[in-house]
Amino acid sequence: MLHIFFLVVKLLGLILLSLTHRNKVHGKFMSNIGRCDVSEGNWIFDMHYPLYDIKQCPFVEKIFSCQNNGRPDNFYPKFRWQPKGCEISSFDGRQFLSKHRGKDIMFVGDSLSLNQWQSLTCMLHVAVPEANYTVQRNSQLSTFTFPDYNISIMLERNAFLVDLVMEGNDTRVMKLDSLTSSLRWEHMDVLIFDSWHWWLHNGRKQPWDFVEYGKTRVKDIDRLVAYEKALTTWAKWVDSSVDVAKTKVFFQGISPDHDACEGRQGPLKTAGVSPPSEVVLERILNNMSAQVYLLNINRMSQYRADGHPSFYGLGGHNGDDCTHWCLPGVPDTWNLILLSFLV
Ligand SMILES: *[C@@H]1O[C@H](CO)[C@@H](O)[C@H](O)[C@H]1NC(C)=O
Ligand SMILES: *[C@@H]1O[C@H](CO)[C@@H](O)[C@H](O)[C@H]1NC(C)=O
Ligand SMILES: *[C@@H]1O[C@H](CO)[C@@H](O)[C@H](O)[C@H]1NC(C)=O
Ligand SMILES: *[C@@H]1O[C@H](CO)[C@@H](O)[C@H](O)[C@H]1NC(C)=O
Repeated sequence: MLHIFFLVVKLLGLILLSLTHRNKVHGKFMSNIGRCDVSEGNWIFDMHYPLYDIKQCPFVEKIFSCQNNGRPDNFYPKFRWQPKGCEISSFDGRQFLSKHRGKDIMFVGDSLSLNQWQSLTCMLHVAVPEANYTVQRNSQLSTFTFPDYNISIMLERNAFLVDLVMEGNDTRVMKLDSLTSSLRWEHMDVLIFDSWHWWLHNGRKQPWDFVEYGKTRVKDIDRLVAYEKALTTWAKWVDSSVDVAKTKVFFQGISPDHDACEGRQGPLKTAGVSPPSEVVLERILNNMSAQVYLLNINRMSQYRADGHPSFYGLGGHNGDDCTHWCLPGVPDTWNLILLSFLV
């Protein structure tokens, strides 16, 4: 009798084990560093911040160089993100470069990828100022290298990830099911994607005449639905074609805009809930079989209305920029999180 009881317990155990094992194979995205949930915490004033002076990085674009553009206050870069009850590893650029000798790192996305790419290259250059670097800027692909370390850190401007193609002379078709840029991504060691803000453009700034998915072709479509379909196409590509043991795949969480950011000083007291785009992104990442990483930056960045260029970006008729981020500033923290996953 006892014997049978133990046999049943053992069988149940085996079934449970196979169930939990199945869960493991279905790789939920990772956004905690170890046990550290980086999305909850506070911005703490830290006199050792910022991590660099923008004058040390002549390659950073005007749009992010707020101090050079006359921003009068310099309080905003002096905040460090302190997750609740845990730490993000401190930044060691020299160690990072040594450990990633020979690696190719690529950001793929819109100007918020540009923002993070410029932050990372500046952080690394300032950490190892004696190492030579080269930087080639191009509208489609930009490359920053550290030849001494044989490391390339690239940026591909690609706001939608899926294909936007020309038909005939003047018909622009957004193909939500088609993704061919991936041929350029497959041999990278680290990929950091971002997409969202361009999906919102309408009127004259809308970059397509038709949207196509499956056998359907329409003039326009709900933008969140389009985003979800495009991300699904992207996720299928990662699941089917990327060897995540060789290539680490990251997605930059949704970078928040603020309605009003002029003259802000210091972090806001509260952050709101996740926007619908972030909810969609996390749902897609959670349904992937490949293990990917989310840079969980939405909530922490919501506190930082003070971190945008406002009139100290491009200024002029481009006006009040409450979308991008001054450098040094908020994207440096995004990179601290990225590097914590990579060391
Ligand atoms: C540099 O890295 C590439 C991989 O990105 C490798 O193929 C090449 O052999 C490396 N060159 C040197 C000089 O180490
Ligand atoms: C940096 O590049 C210059 C010119 O190419 C070269 O003369 C110099 O030796 C390099 N420095 C290092 C540390 O490799
Ligand atoms: C495209 O433009 C060329 C030159 O302007 C013209 O000859 C051709 O007919 C156009 N094709 C279509 C499909 O409109
Ligand atoms: C989840 O992934 C499966 C397999 O790739 C797919 O068939 C399904 O539509 C996805 N579900 C959602 C909600 O995205």
